[in-house]
Amino acid sequence: MTPDIDARRLLDRIEAFARIGGNGDGGITREGFGAADLEARARLSKEAQIGGLDSTVDAAGNVLIRRPEGGRGAEGRRVLLFGSHLDTVANGGRLDGAYGVLAGLEVMQTIVESGAELTYEPVLVAFSNEEGALFPQPFWGSKVLAGALETLPEDPRDRSGRSLRHPLALAGGDLAALSTAVWPAESVAAYLELHVEQGPVLERGGRTIGVVDSITGRTQLTVEVRGSAGHAGTTPMELRRDPMTVAARIVLAVEDLAGEQRLCRVATVGWVEVQPNSPNTIADSVRLTIDLRDSVPSNLENAEQALRTSLASLGKQAEMHIDIRVDARAAPVATDPVLRAAITASADELGLPHQTLPSGAGHDAQIVARIAPIGMIFVPSIGGVSHVPEEDTAATDLVAGARVLLRTVLRL
Ligand code: GLV
Ligand code: MN
Ligand code: MN
Repeated sequence: MTPDIDARRLLDRIEAFARIGGNGDGGITREGFGAADLEARARLSKEAQIGGLDSTVDAAGNVLIRRPEGGRGAEGRRVLLFGSHLDTVANGGRLDGAYGVLAGLEVMQTIVESGAELTYEPVLVAFSNEEGALFPQPFWGSKVLAGALETLPEDPRDRSGRSLRHPLALAGGDLAALSTAVWPAESVAAYLELHVEQGPVLERGGRTIGVVDSITGRTQLTVEVRGSAGHAGTTPMELRRDPMTVAARIVLAVEDLAGEQRLCRVATVGWVEVQPNSPNTIADSVRLTIDLRDSVPSNLENAEQALRTSLASLGKQAEMHIDIRVDARAAPVATDPVLRAAITASADELGLPHQTLPSGAGHDAQIVARIAPIGMIFVPSIGGVSHVPEEDTAATDLVAGARVLLRTVLRL
């Protein structure tokens, strides 16, 4: 008989983790390497150990959960890696990331309890700092594991300038030993990630399972405009160098990239910081983030180039310095056809309606694609919303997704 997951145990765990970093209104703030994230990671390791599994943390702060007799490529066996992330955006939902990790834990426990035989060694991973909410190095853990060290700063800092060194050490990592967390490409046979869709497609189509065919590319920048602070009541308009007015034009220029100009699919300014942020003071400087997404690499390049041109002209016109920092670039990737077929066959076996769709959100899977074939399973998001407290998925769909993950793991 094919083993089955313990649905109650999975749903209870999802509830329990939703309380870590909970803001009281359903929203969760569990930013990577912040206090709540550390608590969630410790809780995951403890639950795994209680469940008879081994839990370790690598130098990048990734939590890795293995069968006690297994290990990384034990007896030369290649690894079937699966998981997601536990960190969230500020005031995000309880499922983005955590669902894939907790369903993965349920799958690992089911494998151990049933004594199922597998071709590859199953390893669960909770990647560190996927969102980049506090430390603007999204996909931090997966980038290190996949050996993309050259894309990471040597001394990563959060938005207030604090080094990652100490928070990473608190999580059990070690900034000086990142290379020890890199996995050789041939060690990973496949990577699977189960995630909530975060969009409206499955719900609208009345499908329970999404088989992801591609993941969007993404460019993230932080821009700083520096002007001159001054008194809001006494500084004549013609003598001002107000970075706020330039920032407002930048926000509109970003909208324009995906709007009028149609250079990329979507473009967002989601974070703004004003110094000194005082109602009766002209600002001294404004920092803001820009998030560009598209599934075609040249579209992302052209959008970034057009943005740089408008920023240069805005800066020149206003006689203000505009500084641009690239936080991350993630290429769009396709998922592996063999893994897509395995996911589809698992959904069919369970009698679950499914459909193939692209992911507009970013995922650690697109980084792991550098070293291994990847597959992604989606379940519907109620109302299609995510990165907000209202993010939710029906319990039956959460259970269905975990079942598909288990069957896919068993099938490979
Ligand atoms: C990841 O959460 C993203 O922003 O797509
Ligand atoms: Mn997210
Ligand atoms: Mn996510």
